Amino acid sequence: MQAGLESLGIAVPPTYVELAELARARGVAPGKYVDGLGVTRMAVPLVEEDTVTLAARAARMAMEAAGCTAEDVGMLVVGTETAVDHSKPVSSYVQGLLGLSTRCRVFETKHACYGGTAALLLAMDWVRSGSAKGKKALIICSDIARYGVGTPGEPTQGAGAVALLVSDKPKLLAFEAGKTGAYAKDVMDFWRPLYSKDAVVDGHYSVQCYLDALEGAYRAYQEAAEDAGGEGAYSDRFAALVYHVPYGKMSRKAHRHVRTLDGDKEPDASFDRLVGPSLVLPSQVGNIYTGSMYLALASLLSCSREELTGKRVGLFSYGSGSCAEFFSAVVQPEAQARVKALGLENLLEKRRALSIPEYEAIMAAREKLDDKPAEETPGEGFRYQGTRDHKRIYAR
Ligand SMILES: CC(C)(COP(=O)(O)OP(=O)(O)OC[C@H]1O[C@@H](n2cnc3c(N)ncnc32)[C@H](O)[C@@H]1OP(=O)(O)O)[C@@H](O)C(=O)NCCC(=O)NCCS
Repeated sequence: MQAGLESLGIAVPPTYVELAELARARGVAPGKYVDGLGVTRMAVPLVEEDTVTLAARAARMAMEAAGCTAEDVGMLVVGTETAVDHSKPVSSYVQGLLGLSTRCRVFETKHACYGGTAALLLAMDWVRSGSAKGKKALIICSDIARYGVGTPGEPTQGAGAVALLVSDKPKLLAFEAGKTGAYAKDVMDFWRPLYSKDAVVDGHYSVQCYLDALEGAYRAYQEAAEDAGGEGAYSDRFAALVYHVPYGKMSRKAHRHVRTLDGDKEPDASFDRLVGPSLVLPSQVGNIYTGSMYLALASLLSCSREELTGKRVGLFSYGSGSCAEFFSAVVQPEAQARVKALGLENLLEKRRALSIPEYEAIMAAREKLDDKPAEETPGEGFRYQGTRDHKRIYAR
């Protein structure tokens, strides 16, 4: 049985910071953030937004795009590393906000930025095994990436969610069964202690851990696919490569590494062709942790000028700590038109720029949000309003 993506949905905050402006405020050359890291804008969530509201918004878009009803969903998993509770999963709040059926398996997964991929691969097996019995899985990657004001990681923050509707009717991508290569190693490259809202990161070491994991997963994929050898670079079997993208430059480093492993003497030469279109949207949003590779995938389908139908895409997901996976999928007819119709580029264009003091005020306010007394807030859509009796309250 086939399994893959029937539709997808994206949610990003309505506000962002220009990284050139942030650089000037920090006394750094703007070129370091914009060219050195490859990020132009960084999404900053308003205080009424959290991992739950972003997830619910993205899920609603994915469901509407596929004409999926609440009863159609038999599994709802949220992959996140910025959950809102130590016990109650983000997915339960989302189930409530979306009014999904009680006949649904609902839970949350965590493994840094790999959590959503773990859920996606599990959902794929659920569909292929026949256990889904025609139901769909809603996999949502939702995070607010936060390193803290003034830290080296600050320009690599962001916020957003990507929802993936998985079923036996893949209208966007059909994943290739058995073609996955995993790599895991116990490393301390990035973590967030229970007492902290900000991540702790050994930045340069995390880049090396990512590249080591990429190499391990890429080799494991080749073994699993049993198609090594032959003419030319192995990665030319893919019409596009989508890497986990904490910031754009990381994808460039990843691609250079893959092509070097392939024996390519000019490892950067294929970057624009194979990777470029996947970075258009991420460069406007920044790091969204679990969702970042899937935002890059949406960017590829939305922004590539090449006809990709029937072609293979390679995907690399990395979660610090660490676990990584290289896997592949085939683009389905009209997938690009369907994703273009979501108007994602337009969605990003409509956002409002924050000044640096506005951004810093929001970051400070977020410190106290978890026990802010609930109050009615004006506005539309899913909104976090605060807590009452230790319970988080949401407007829908
Ligand atoms: C990514 C990170 C380690 C960069 O840290 P940093 O020490 O502040 O930045 P660097 O000095 O390494 O500079 C970053 C890049 O900008 C380049 N750069 C510096 N000044 C520049 C300028 N004025 N113009 C253009 N490029 C410039 C550097 O050469 C470097 O490029 P390179 O990586 O190709 O060598 C840091 O942002 C971080 O910790 N991020 C969070 C962790 C993360 O995202 N890890 C990824 C793996 S999961």
